Amino acid sequence: MANLWSGRFEKGMDELVEKFNASILFDQRMYACDIQGSIAHVTMLSEQGIVTPEEKDKIIAGLLDIKRRVDEGKLTFTVKDEDIHMAVEGNLIKDLGETGKRLHTARSRNDQVAVDTRLYLKEQIHQLLENLAYLQRVLLEKAEEYADQISIGFTHMQHAQPVTIGFHLMAYFQMFRRDMERLTDTLGRVDWCPLGSCALAGTTLPINRQRTAELLGFAHVTENAMDSVSDRDYALEFLSDASISMMHLSRLAEEFVYWNSQEFSYISIDDSFCTGSSIMPQKKNPDMAELLRGKVGRVYGDLMQLLTVMKGTPLAYNKDFQEDKEGLFDAIDTWRDSLRIFAKMIEKTTFRMDMIQANLSKGFLNATDIAEHFVKQGIPFREAHEIVGKMVKYCEHHGCDFDRLDAKAFQEIDSRITPDKLPDLSMEGCVNARVSFGGTAPSEVRRQIQVGREWLDSMAL
Ligand code: ARG
Repeated sequence: MANLWSGRFEKGMDELVEKFNASILFDQRMYACDIQGSIAHVTMLSEQGIVTPEEKDKIIAGLLDIKRRVDEGKLTFTVKDEDIHMAVEGNLIKDLGETGKRLHTARSRNDQVAVDTRLYLKEQIHQLLENLAYLQRVLLEKAEEYADQISIGFTHMQHAQPVTIGFHLMAYFQMFRRDMERLTDTLGRVDWCPLGSCALAGTTLPINRQRTAELLGFAHVTENAMDSVSDRDYALEFLSDASISMMHLSRLAEEFVYWNSQEFSYISIDDSFCTGSSIMPQKKNPDMAELLRGKVGRVYGDLMQLLTVMKGTPLAYNKDFQEDKEGLFDAIDTWRDSLRIFAKMIEKTTFRMDMIQANLSKGFLNATDIAEHFVKQGIPFREAHEIVGKMVKYCEHHGCDFDRLDAKAFQEIDSRITPDKLPDLSMEGCVNARVSFGGTAPSEVRRQIQVGREWLDSMAL
């Protein structure tokens, strides 16, 4: 089939050019969106009297037939088809003859590719929100299960203060909540219809862009044709949402990797999410968590690639923009699969409380609690901090814990302090007392879970 733009050409394309120029091998995944766009477009054209109702009916039937054949794997494409827009239209003309040639009226591939990508992205965003919601439900359930279980909170990877595992998991819930909110905001900016912008400047034909947008379920119609065909910031925004969320996943992945190490052994990951070694028979490796940590690199790469492609491109459409799709699709697939895998992996992971318990006594996790106790007795916090620092030094020197300090030791450290009336310094006591809003006390964690659950339900996913 000759190219649909062959009028002013005397020669066909060089074979290398044909391959280099084609986007069909990756943009064919948008075939259903391309056909949906064409059906809306031709419906509007007939309502405006630009094509006849009979032509419209024939074209729609032809498009649906192409869709069916692609769905069933009976129609496949090669680089000769160039891109999905040419492939669908070319087949339509092959099937319908003259009538098929009326479809590409008052539109261009420039607005067509923009509408296809936006339609496709809208669909994918809805699905990703569902994947995120599933992960959130898993986190809420695990947080509930471990709302009272105490573990070690770190800063600088050093023992800091005791926290509940539910609390730790709810920290991730907040990150993914913001990811969901960001993605929902992005959806609002993807939801603008560029179709009818044509090549760059609109058309002399009496089209109705509002109607096409309405038929396609878009919330808005883009304002400026030149911007509509050359804007890719909706894709960039999506890629930055994906990058931030993958970064969040990678932090959890990293925690899984070291929690699973022999040194920690805080968790046990289900066998079905681990792999073995080809040489060391004893190994059970947390490959999924490691892979997730690694996959973030791809998604950052996708973002950087498109930022770089777009930089300095003049208005309006440039072929450079064809380079937006592979990275976008890669980020969609990677983010979706990562969310799915992680949700399932967390679901099947248990915390080894015996191993965690064995480490709780190390590192003076209750030091801040003692300092706060002295504050309650009227000592300024800075001084209380200093006093407890000396207590730690004393204990380290004598190889003991706070509970071994006697009245004499207290007096030696500071004349204002005595071991009397010390609060419950057990890990449970410390955790239960941290009831400040957003704190780690089980009662507070249950409140966070409740608020999280209500918010998630309000997303109706
Ligand atoms: N395959 C092209 C892309 O992805 C479609 C638009 C082509 N437009 C053009 N004027 N050559 O950007």
